[in-house]
Amino acid sequence: MSHVMNTYARLPVSFVRGEGAWLWDTEGRRYLDALSGIAVNTLGHAHPRFTAALNGQIGKLIHCSNIYEVREQELLADKLCGLSGMQEAFFCNSGCEANEAAIKLARMVGHKQEIESPAIIVMEKAFHGRTLATLSATGNRKVQAGFEPLVGGFVRVPYNDLEAIRHVARHNSNVVAVLVEPIQGEGGIRTLDIDYLQQLRQICDEHNWLLMLDEVQCGMGRTGKWFAFQHTGIQPDVMTLAKGLGSGVPIGACLVAGKAAGVFQPGNHGSTFGGNPLACVAGLATLNIIEQDKLLAHAESLGHFIRQGLTGALQGVNGIREIRGQGLIIGIELDKPCGDLVKLALAKGLLTNVTAENVIRLLPPLVMSNDEAQQMLDILCPLIKEFLQP
Ligand SMILES: Cc1ncc(COP(=O)(O)O)c(C=O)c1O
Repeated sequence: MSHVMNTYARLPVSFVRGEGAWLWDTEGRRYLDALSGIAVNTLGHAHPRFTAALNGQIGKLIHCSNIYEVREQELLADKLCGLSGMQEAFFCNSGCEANEAAIKLARMVGHKQEIESPAIIVMEKAFHGRTLATLSATGNRKVQAGFEPLVGGFVRVPYNDLEAIRHVARHNSNVVAVLVEPIQGEGGIRTLDIDYLQQLRQICDEHNWLLMLDEVQCGMGRTGKWFAFQHTGIQPDVMTLAKGLGSGVPIGACLVAGKAAGVFQPGNHGSTFGGNPLACVAGLATLNIIEQDKLLAHAESLGHFIRQGLTGALQGVNGIREIRGQGLIIGIELDKPCGDLVKLALAKGLLTNVTAENVIRLLPPLVMSNDEAQQMLDILCPLIKEFLQP
C-alpha cells in the first residue's frame, strides 16, 4: 500500500529522465511530451544551459532567508518588471500563493480606502488554486465541495461578459478588484476577447478597481508574447505568475504596478522559501534562454503550425466543436467527454491531457520542434477521429 496521500488519479506510468520534448519511463519507453508538466517545463527537459545555470547555483547557495538581501531576487524582479511594464515583484513558490498575495493586496487596498468588506470580482469556470482563498475564487464546485465555509468577498460573473461587470459596478460599492485569467486553462482554454480586456481596463479605471490578471498558466511566453495581456495593449495593476517561470523549479510571483505598488510593507506578507537564490536563478535562466533562443517567435509560429495541422486533419469530423488557443496553449473541444483519450494517447507514446471534461489540452514545451509537433499531430489526430467515429 502506498504511503502517499491519495489526492491524484494517477496514470500508471513513471518517468525517470527527459530530454527536450521527450520523457523516458521506468521500462525505457519514450514519450513525446505535449503537456510540459501542465505548462511548467518551458524549456523542455534537461535543457543543457538551464541545467548548467542550476548546477552553478546549487554549488554556491540554494537558500538563505528573506531576512537578508537576496541578489538573485533583485535581478529577477528587474528582469520581470522590464519585460512586463510592472514595478514590483513578490516571490513565492506556486500559483495559488501568487494569487493569495494578489487577493491579500486587493483587500489591503480596499481597507486603505475605508471599505470594510472589500470584494473581488471573479469569473465562472475560473481556476486560481486550491488554498482556501484561491479555491473560493475558483469557479468550479468540484474544487470547492467539502471545504465550506468558503472564504467570502468574491463576486462571480460569467467570463467575457462586460454587461455582468457593469451590473456589479452599479450595485456593489465594496468591489476593489477584478481577478481574471486572460486565457482560462483549467476552464477549457477559453480566451478573453481583446476588446473585453480593453474595456475591462476602462471600467476598472472608472471605479478605481485593480485589474488583476492570473497568468499562471498562460504567461511566460506560451502565447508568443511574454505575457498574454501584451496581445491587448492594456497594462494590468497586478499579474500573477508561476508554472513556467522556473521551468520546473517551483517559483511564483505577484507583480504589481501603479496604485498596487508600495502597498505591502514589511510584516504584511512573506514566505520562507519564496524567491530563494536557486528558484530565482531558475527564473532568470528561463527568461534568458527564451530570449537567446527566440522562443517567443517560435511559440507563435509553432502554435500556428499545430492549429493548422489540427484543423486540416480534423476538418469535417463530426464531434469536433472548436480548435482554439494562442501560441502553445491549445484546446480541442469535442462534443462529448473525452478523458479516455489521455490513456489512448499514452499507449501510443504521447503525453496530453483533457480539461473541462471535453477539451483536449496541448501545452508543449517552447522548445518543441516542428518535426516533433508533426509527430504529435500524427499520433493525436487519428486517435481523435477513431474516438469520435469508431
Ligand atoms: C490559472 C491558474 N492559476 C493558478 C493555478 C494554481 O497554481 P498552483 O498549482 O501552482 O498553486 C493554476 C494551476 O493550474 C492555474 O492554471
